[in-house]
Amino acid sequence: MYRTHTCGELRLADANKEVTLAGWVQTVRKFGSITFVDLRDRYGITQLMFTETLNEQLDANPLGREFVLQAKGKVNERSSKNANIPTGEIELLVSAFNILNKAVTPPFTIQDDTDGGDDLRMKYRFLDLRRNAVKKNLELRYAVNRSARNYLHENNFMDIETPFLIKSTPEGARDFVVPSRMNAGQFYALPQSPQTFKQLLMVSGYDRYYQIVKCFRDEDLRADRQPEFTQIDCEMSFVQQEDILNMFEGLIKRIFKDVKGIDYTETVERMTWEEAMWQYGNDKPDIRFGMKIANLVFAKHMFPGKEAVLEEEMFSIPPLGGGGATVLAIAVPGCSEYTRKQTDELTEWVKRPQIGMKGLVFIKVNNDGTYKSSVDKFYSEEKLKAIADAAGAKAGDLILILAGAEERTRKAISDLRMYMADKLGLRKANDFKLLWVLDFPLFEYAEEENRWVARHHPFTSPKPDHIEVMINNNPVIPARQSGGENASEYLKHPYAGIKANAYDMVLNGNEIGGGSIRIFQRELQEKMFAALGMDKEEQLHKFGFLLGAFEYGAPPHGGLAFGFDRLCAILGGSESIRDFIAFPKNNSGRDVMLDAPSTIDGKQLVELSIKLDVKE
Ligand code: AMO
Repeated sequence: MYRTHTCGELRLADANKEVTLAGWVQTVRKFGSITFVDLRDRYGITQLMFTETLNEQLDANPLGREFVLQAKGKVNERSSKNANIPTGEIELLVSAFNILNKAVTPPFTIQDDTDGGDDLRMKYRFLDLRRNAVKKNLELRYAVNRSARNYLHENNFMDIETPFLIKSTPEGARDFVVPSRMNAGQFYALPQSPQTFKQLLMVSGYDRYYQIVKCFRDEDLRADRQPEFTQIDCEMSFVQQEDILNMFEGLIKRIFKDVKGIDYTETVERMTWEEAMWQYGNDKPDIRFGMKIANLVFAKHMFPGKEAVLEEEMFSIPPLGGGGATVLAIAVPGCSEYTRKQTDELTEWVKRPQIGMKGLVFIKVNNDGTYKSSVDKFYSEEKLKAIADAAGAKAGDLILILAGAEERTRKAISDLRMYMADKLGLRKANDFKLLWVLDFPLFEYAEEENRWVARHHPFTSPKPDHIEVMINNNPVIPARQSGGENASEYLKHPYAGIKANAYDMVLNGNEIGGGSIRIFQRELQEKMFAALGMDKEEQLHKFGFLLGAFEYGAPPHGGLAFGFDRLCAILGGSESIRDFIAFPKNNSGRDVMLDAPSTIDGKQLVELSIKLDVKE
């Protein structure tokens, strides 16, 4: 028997027991003739004490960091106790030991505060995984997994595996493809999600499906994106949006309870996409703090005839075609006493290329009721007050105002809002706030291609009231006319107003899940594919199986998928999902430990009928 106990298990109540432990040597400390070793395994650390009787043996077999060691002895009450670890009241008085394996010196220290940089830790991920900080993340991940499975099982969901080698259907992200040896010149694709399979399972009658499943997307990577990631993927039949929202609020609340011990009893807030965009400037708002965006178009109207002047004077931009610039403001609480240096710093921040604004106007609402602004020379106190009222500012607030083309300005003010919230410590990792964002536009317009693309995916149903609009209109968009960003023809097309029966779940400003009620009638699905620019032939080539299945009794259905890695990261207080994946890729999509992707042998290429010198 290698061990009788783990290194996290022994307590004072075990004193005098004869035990055997096995684990890794974390530290070796010598005090005169006595040697102390911290022995570590997955469960904790136990101090070993080697007295002088073992010195000869230790000299012959010196211990080093990360050696795998087995030690036998008696549990002893420590004379100086360590209150920081659960085993801190005892130590093992070693009577015999056995080095099970030696180790070379690790490239970084395997401790909570390691000296290893990111790249090094990724290269030696198997060592990084020994560290407590990473282990805790994986334990949390497993706890979320168990909690989700229990809830879904109790609610009659059935885990059904779907294939990984499927057909390429480029829509959304790019596919990863796999060449087929037996079908020369042909390729499988790895699934971006099991979307069509779960819908087919509904046609087959498995009315509640789930899978905790890998998905593959060849897209640009960020802290919250990996090329292979995991979803908690779910689908239900005979449901409407309300049923889905209730079921999956239940799931997330259960996870909060099981994993974090949090009773999330408050009602999950709901907001339309339109509201989210205007009040927060993006479709996944962090609603843990206020600072809602005010649209100062109203303020502009307070100065009849001066709208264009206001824009020019305040922002040094020529008024944009017809409608003029969008002018947006946030009132930042308690910052009216910002110094010139601080407001200059904010101006520089919004002028960076990533934000792309021409400038920043600020108004300080002083605690004594006076105003001080960067545009004092243009505006009387009375007018500043009018703007402050329109921005919903209180005494002590600093109003920040941005102007420019609508989309860019909304994004900029949203980024500024988050930046200020981070600065003011308003985004606390252990404060959780859920939100459903509803009624997304069904389509988005792809400018380069002059066509509609599905905002979610092509299987999402329009809102019931909008199905008619889709059936009865031609999707073709007239050629774009020149003009301002807001003036394009596509906005006037009936399709632009169609809302999707889709929903995203947002947690603390992160999209943790999304889904929709699906199209389940062939005619509407064909209309959708046509809207995306697919002719009949292409529709049949890519999705014939699904269109066909819809003719064999497809039930009404809908579902959603949670980003499992993202959910774990946020519950663990981080926005980087890499730390919650055992073997992640780096930001260039590489596995630096395996050194993948890599070239393959000429022989393999020949077998796969791949010639690498092919030009486009
Ligand atoms: P969607 O594309 O919105 O929906 O994905 C669902 C959730 O998966 C997470 N996610 C990612 N996580 C890490 N890395 C990525 N590259 C990545 N991409 C997405 C997000 C997202 O909310 N089939 C639909 C679901 C449905 O309609 O039922 C789908 O895949 O948290």
